[in-house]
Order: sequence, then C-alpha cells, then structure tokens
Amino acid sequence: MERSYAAEKVRHKAYNAWMKDHGGVIVNIIADMWKGFPGMAHTGAARAAVDNLTKSLAIEWAHSGVRINSVAPGTIISKTAMENYKEYGPTLFKMSVPFSPAKRLGVPEEISPAVCFLLSPAANYITGATLKVDAGQSLYHSIWEIPEHDAWPEAPEGENTDVLREIMDKTKSKL
Ligand SMILES: *[C@@H]1O[C@H](CO)[C@@H](O)[C@H](O)[C@H]1NC(C)=O
Repeated sequence: MERSYAAEKVRHKAYNAWMKDHGGVIVNIIADMWKGFPGMAHTGAARAAVDNLTKSLAIEWAHSGVRINSVAPGTIISKTAMENYKEYGPTLFKMSVPFSPAKRLGVPEEISPAVCFLLSPAANYITGATLKVDAGQSLYHSIWEIPEHDAWPEAPEGENTDVLREIMDKTKSKL
C-alpha cells in the first residue's frame, strides 16, 4: 500500500505539473486478482485499489483530456523475476503453468504491446478500462486449494438437502 500511495503522489504531481493543462495518457499495471488473491491479500488489496483509482481518475481528469487505463497481466515470467524469487522461482512458476489456458506462462514482451496500445492514439477513445492480458487465466480455475473441512453450517432440512446428502454419501462410499 505504501508503494501505491507513493505512486499516487507522483501521479498527482505529474497531473498538476503537466497533464492538467496539456492532457496525457496513463497506464497502471495491476494483477490477476479477480478471484481473490489468497495468501497475498496485501497486494490484492493494493491492486484492487489501483483499479478503482484508474476508474475514478478517468472521470476526474477527463475534462483535462487525460486518459487513464490499467493492464492486468496473468502470471508472467522473466529473468529478473527468477532472480528475485531465488530458489523458489522454478517451483513457483512451474506450479502456475497448468492454471493458464495457454499452458505456458507469459513474458513481459507480451504485456508491453498492450501498454503501448493503450498509450497510443489507437486508444484515443478508451479510458477507465482494465485490459486483462492473461490468456484467459482469470476466467479459469484458481491455484488456491481449499482444505477439506466441515466448517460450514448445514443446509436447511428438506428434500433438496436429502438429495445433497445422498450424492455426498455415494461419493464418500466410492472413496
Ligand atoms: C471506487 O470506489 C468508490 C469509493 O468507494 C466507489 O464509489 C466506486 O463505485 C468504486 N468504483 C468502482 C468501479 O468500483
């Protein structure tokens, strides 16, 4: 959150110093946090905040001719990311592959064209948008596993719950 607060201050400075009178284009990078970001709630909250910021500023700064959009990449691998994650890198990145409909991770070179497009005059009529560049990852299943549990309240008694119980018992006896 600190980082996005700092980025927000810089954005306001850039706006007041130039964009307010001359217009401009901003692209924010967020992440694939659409299904929740388990184990990473701190960064998920920050990215969601930046997405809202994008949409709010799109309206707030429209009268200055400022366009502002965000790009939400899927899991992206890079040489520097591998260096940052050290010995966890290979496992961490390999683990994500089956969760990509492309069955491979993306690379930064596949994100930058989207950023360039949004910055270019080809996107002159686009503001407040979020462009997912994730090979459909955000529409596919989650990498997060929920452990077996019985922590939820029982479904209300009735014929539907009887059916539910029946199929659950059958599944259990198969195991
Ligand atoms: C952004 O947050 C504000 C303040 O809570 C809210 O009014 C607005 O609807 C949000 N916008 C979106 C697109 O979620």
